[in-house]
Amino acid sequence: MNKKIRVLIGEEEVSQRIQEIGAKISADYKGRTVHIICVLKGGVYFACELSRYITVPVTIDFMSVSSYGDDIQSSGVVRIVKDLDQPLEGKDVLVVEDIIDSGRTLSYLLEILKGRRPASLRLCTLLDKPDRRVRKVSVDYTCFEIPDEFVVGFGLDYAQQYRNLPFIGVVEI
Ligand code: IMP
Ligand code: MG
Repeated sequence: MNKKIRVLIGEEEVSQRIQEIGAKISADYKGRTVHIICVLKGGVYFACELSRYITVPVTIDFMSVSSYGDDIQSSGVVRIVKDLDQPLEGKDVLVVEDIIDSGRTLSYLLEILKGRRPASLRLCTLLDKPDRRVRKVSVDYTCFEIPDEFVVGFGLDYAQQYRNLPFIGVVEI
């Protein structure tokens, strides 16, 4: 499968913005440790890059929650595919996601995580498509708001491909 990809946000712009958000997080969490929860698989490229620009201590854990199949339609069904290794009690938890679309995945996930009694719980996303929201989600850090288009790159996939693109692109269907 070789689809045409149009660049939406270039590599340099993505990198600059992640550095900015990293600096903001570092300032906000001064004197604390940020416990990053990376939501697999999409969040992994962003979480790794972001963590490099956080200057306070960082720990990281991984979770996989699925609400999508191999197509571009939300199934509306959310399930935990892989749970965290570490407990969250007393930690300053920062959930790091690739994209918030309908908000179903995150509203479900945040409820579960809240129940594990973290000291604080915030959400950081690389991309946000606010026009598509069906569940209210409060986002603390957003790198880019984008229009309602299906995007790939920087962790985001189309049928598991294109996650490794260093920019954000739109799949031309
Ligand atoms: P939500 O539950 O609808 O907010 O879906 C969030 C998940 O859907 C993301 O973590 C992605 O895995 C996937 N997703 C939503 N929009 C896109 C897109 O434009 N490109 C790739 N994946 C997407
Ligand atoms: Mg995701």
